[in-house]
Amino acid sequence: MTITQGETERFKYDQVSGYIMDLIDKGTLKPGDRVPSLRKLSKTLKVSISTINQAYLSLEDKGVISARPQSGFYINAELNQSIATPKPIITANCQPRKVRFGQLFEEIFTISNNPRIAPFAAAKPSMELMPDKALMRETKSILSRNPANCMDYCFPPGHENLRQQIALRYSDLGVSVSSEDIIITSGATEALSLSLQTVAKRGDVIAVESPTYFSVLRLIEKMGMLALEIDSDPITGINLDSLEFALDTMDITAMLIVPNFNNPSGSLMPETHKKQLVELLSTRQIPIIEDDVYGDLYFGEERPRILKTYDTEGRVLSCSSFSKTLAPGFRMGWVAADARYHDRLLEWKQATSSASPSLQQLATAEFLRSGQYDRHLSRLRKAFKAQIEKARFMVARLFPEGTRISDPQGGFVLWIELPRSYDCFAVYNQALEHHIGITPGMLFSATRKFKNYIRLNCGYPWTEETELALEQLATIIHEMNP
Ligand SMILES: Cc1ncc(COP(=O)(O)O)c(C=O)c1O
Repeated sequence: MTITQGETERFKYDQVSGYIMDLIDKGTLKPGDRVPSLRKLSKTLKVSISTINQAYLSLEDKGVISARPQSGFYINAELNQSIATPKPIITANCQPRKVRFGQLFEEIFTISNNPRIAPFAAAKPSMELMPDKALMRETKSILSRNPANCMDYCFPPGHENLRQQIALRYSDLGVSVSSEDIIITSGATEALSLSLQTVAKRGDVIAVESPTYFSVLRLIEKMGMLALEIDSDPITGINLDSLEFALDTMDITAMLIVPNFNNPSGSLMPETHKKQLVELLSTRQIPIIEDDVYGDLYFGEERPRILKTYDTEGRVLSCSSFSKTLAPGFRMGWVAADARYHDRLLEWKQATSSASPSLQQLATAEFLRSGQYDRHLSRLRKAFKAQIEKARFMVARLFPEGTRISDPQGGFVLWIELPRSYDCFAVYNQALEHHIGITPGMLFSATRKFKNYIRLNCGYPWTEETELALEQLATIIHEMNP
């Protein structure tokens, strides 16, 4: 890097701090590392020692580095933790609401199909991170060994091989689910849709977290149901006191919830909360639709448990898919439910979409059976963790002061709270003009309350192109300066 000479002192030291932040972004400098000495960096960048000193003092002010007596400056060990996370929004007196989405919902999917738009909109993993070659080998081998089986109908509940592999994964989580309890669906979306149709009807009230994944709100809208949004904490998920109050005062038919790495907030419910939630709803005989599409993508040591672990009465309908972890286009999802709901789920599946693709079921089953899926998952988790860490870092550096960023312990989306004066729908429109996709926060609530929030997909490895797109997004936001 060369520092532009003849510029103001301020401009020069901004470039020097940008240079250090770049080394941190790229992972060359890590928390705890010593930054180059004043003398050394002054020689490398050909600027005065006092410019470097100014730059280091400004980085110290921002909490990026700290001076140690007689030793120099070091990158702060708790760098990522020092970034403020979004505040919970508490809504007094929440009421069931009709959901009304305009075209924005479809637009998010349309722009996410466009490879010329920077991929921060839909919650989508990059295909670069997926084991496409290994999966192709399995698919070819299955097709050549038994073509008729691969091309024939496979009626609900779906192929036994795949259902067995999924049941084994439940048993690894300490949950007793048999292959007979499982119905294969077209992604988690169909699993959620069948579950809602099974437990509720038009006019019924469905409790959801706030914020909640917008496709869930869309399903509720299209089925003529009402959404009751319950306050949620960006770190620990749904507020159980608010839920209990709602249960005591309103007629709630079912709950739909993402306990592990909620989309968009990334919240993870503590195990004690999961148990309490299941007890709270079970004693009132209310069904719980659990969506666990991100559960396998944890960054910590242990996979978080699912609500079904605590379900002693068969009230939890457990939905998930391999869309975020293996092959989104295979559309392999499922719902697991006890006898209480199983037959009704099966009737809805048979009535609305009938068979599921045979080849994809067989290939996925074989990929799981051979152990390749678990090996792939451990690489994928590391990649998403690094991508999220870097994104938090860049957003903290580039976005306006007062920005708050979620700190998810799994998954691959960031939930970003801009200062209150921002209108993220305007940010979304401006960004789109520059071929950058993001999701504005208002989509995650029927009340449009997350007006100054955006969700950023971090499912793609960082490249020069995506870094530039993020920088441009930051410039757009700064220039709005409302
Ligand atoms: C929480 C959640 N559930 C379900 C889905 C949809 O999953 P699928 O593609 O398997 O239908 C998504 C995708 O973004 C999601 O974030």
